[in-house]
Amino acid sequence: MSRYLITAALPYANGPVHIGHLAGCYIPADIYARYLRLKGEDVKFICGSDEHGVPITIKARQLGVSPQDVVDKYHTIMRDAFFQFGISFDHYSRTSAPIHHRTASEFFKTLYDKGVFIEETTQQFYDEEAKQFLADRYITGTCPRCGYENAYGDQCENCGSSLNPTDLINPKSKLSGKTPVLKPTKNWFLPMDKIQQSEEFQEYIKRFDNWKPNIKGQCASWLNEGLQPRAMTRDLDWGVKVPLPDAEGKVLYVWFDAPIGYISASKEYMPNDWEKYWKQQPDEKDNPTLIHFIGKDNIVFHAIIFPMMLMTHGGYVLPGNVPANEFLNLEGDKISTSRNWAVWLHEYLQDFPGREDELRYVLTSIAPETKDSEFTWKDFQARVNNELCAIVGNFVNRVVVLSNKYFEGNLSTDINIESHPYHAAIAELYQRYDEAMNNYQFREAQSCAVEVARIGNKYLTEKEPWKKYNAADAGSVNETRDVLINCFSIIAKMGLLFKPFIPRTADKIFNLLNISAEKQKLVKKDNMVREEDNFLDSHKIKIHTSSVILFQKIEDEPIEKQIQKLHDKKVMNNQQTSAAANETLKEQLAETTFDDFSKMDIRVATILEAERVPKTDKLLKLLLDTGIDKRTVVSGIAAFYDPEKIIGQKVVMLANLAPRKIKGIESKGMILMAENEKGELSFISPQKDVITNGSTVK
Ligand code: 2FM
Ligand code: ZN
Repeated sequence: MSRYLITAALPYANGPVHIGHLAGCYIPADIYARYLRLKGEDVKFICGSDEHGVPITIKARQLGVSPQDVVDKYHTIMRDAFFQFGISFDHYSRTSAPIHHRTASEFFKTLYDKGVFIEETTQQFYDEEAKQFLADRYITGTCPRCGYENAYGDQCENCGSSLNPTDLINPKSKLSGKTPVLKPTKNWFLPMDKIQQSEEFQEYIKRFDNWKPNIKGQCASWLNEGLQPRAMTRDLDWGVKVPLPDAEGKVLYVWFDAPIGYISASKEYMPNDWEKYWKQQPDEKDNPTLIHFIGKDNIVFHAIIFPMMLMTHGGYVLPGNVPANEFLNLEGDKISTSRNWAVWLHEYLQDFPGREDELRYVLTSIAPETKDSEFTWKDFQARVNNELCAIVGNFVNRVVVLSNKYFEGNLSTDINIESHPYHAAIAELYQRYDEAMNNYQFREAQSCAVEVARIGNKYLTEKEPWKKYNAADAGSVNETRDVLINCFSIIAKMGLLFKPFIPRTADKIFNLLNISAEKQKLVKKDNMVREEDNFLDSHKIKIHTSSVILFQKIEDEPIEKQIQKLHDKKVMNNQQTSAAANETLKEQLAETTFDDFSKMDIRVATILEAERVPKTDKLLKLLLDTGIDKRTVVSGIAAFYDPEKIIGQKVVMLANLAPRKIKGIESKGMILMAENEKGELSFISPQKDVITNGSTVK
């Protein structure tokens, strides 16, 4: 028996859980944990709410309540929905728990005492109106890599690039909508560049070779680009306080504290035993295996940053795998919490009571295991009706009905329970299933369980007991009984394979057939994966019910209702968005004072040199003669001008814009461009030659 610690990403407690979260992370994690339990492994499955971080403070601000109010509300909604949905966490905790604050704080202090961090004063964006430093998520602007206009200070959700706030073009504070200024502040950085070079890290990354290609690929691109030191503390008042005397007003970076949440939840759950699931053991072969289930936006934090934290702390095992999924889209659009384009788990549970397994089944069938995939309500209906009802449920019900009809549900007999011709085919499906499970290919594994049901239907149809049964003929009675018992044996095996996927349905099958919890195990014998001996006891097949409806057909009406509900939300959102756009426009058109205008030093300059900024699509690095000096400006105009063709071009620039680093290049000032409604840009230049470099624009 091996020890496993399985984690599912701690969801942010700033909104409820939706089907994208489920398909990307929670269902796969649950399937895997349940599968390992079936195999008799020692598994602890841990999760909790991620209650720190800027999105929560943003939500609290929007609602005019405290961050604690926000997390209390969503922690409860999420926890209850997960359990109702059958996610089998051994423990679900939260990062506002005192044990977490203590654990994260001690972890940080250990790294600090070991001299791991670099202490550095840097220029951070500060909102002069809100009088506070701005966390990365409080700053939005244009992504320097792909040009997406609503990129966050830490990440572009369009191209997935990880960013620093100073990389953003035209940054704006989300608090006041104003352009923030840079101000010095001290923080503690994890020297990821240095750790990347260490022998231990180089040894660790060899594991990536066996990980899913999407993770390997993302990690390789990070590592090839070369990691940079990253601040592990932030100027913010919501989170785990930095446990140092000179750190007033600072908290741990949420991505430092959140993964430690897995450790504190384990401690809370197993105060005496947690180390057995986390720490290196005296004998290496007793080490636990740590597996993190996440969505693709969390890869770098789990595959690189958290392992670096564990490594520099010492004593911990490192992740054995990080089976991340891609994203699930919904009815042709990206799922978005802020745009309310989602199917929320707690709403589904209300709208489709008792039908958890149907959603689990469909979300696994379409899980974005290797690439983004899509949920539509029509497809949901079709899969439930054509697969769960028509293949799985129908098979079970046919066998139950026939057993009642011919034997009043009592099939007890001594026959060899596996005397049907499909025995070998099912054994092969077990092997395929096991291999797929071990490779985190849950779609494939689930399809093996469906295949067992197909085989059962085929067998029953071939045998046609309803044509052959004759009560006066003992031979035909016996044959019918054998056929039905074989069918129940197939049903039991199917139930076992389905258990990690649709656990409540599997339990209904086990109840029907009196299969106790201890018997529900997958074992390995002679190198074959199979069920326990005497898994289904042929003496005990007594069916006490006249029919078994595992799944009800889903009619058109509830599906149309759901589609309508989504579209209603879209209309509402569009109205809200256009209301917000109007507000922005109003702000833009609001009168400005002459004083405000005269703070801007706008001048004419000439482009002396121009080249593309490597690895970006939009950026040109320009050398400008401003009349006062020669300086570098990075400008997002590469889509509109070839660098070779703009040498000598006269431009107008904002010369006193605070310098900022864009892709590691210091940019001093900004070229002013005219923009049409399609977003096309054009230089603005003076009409008369008497206007020379350095001439001011008033
Ligand atoms: O992306 C998210 O929802 C994060 N809250 C995940 C955190 S995972 C872990 F580090 F806790
Ligand atoms: Zn981008």
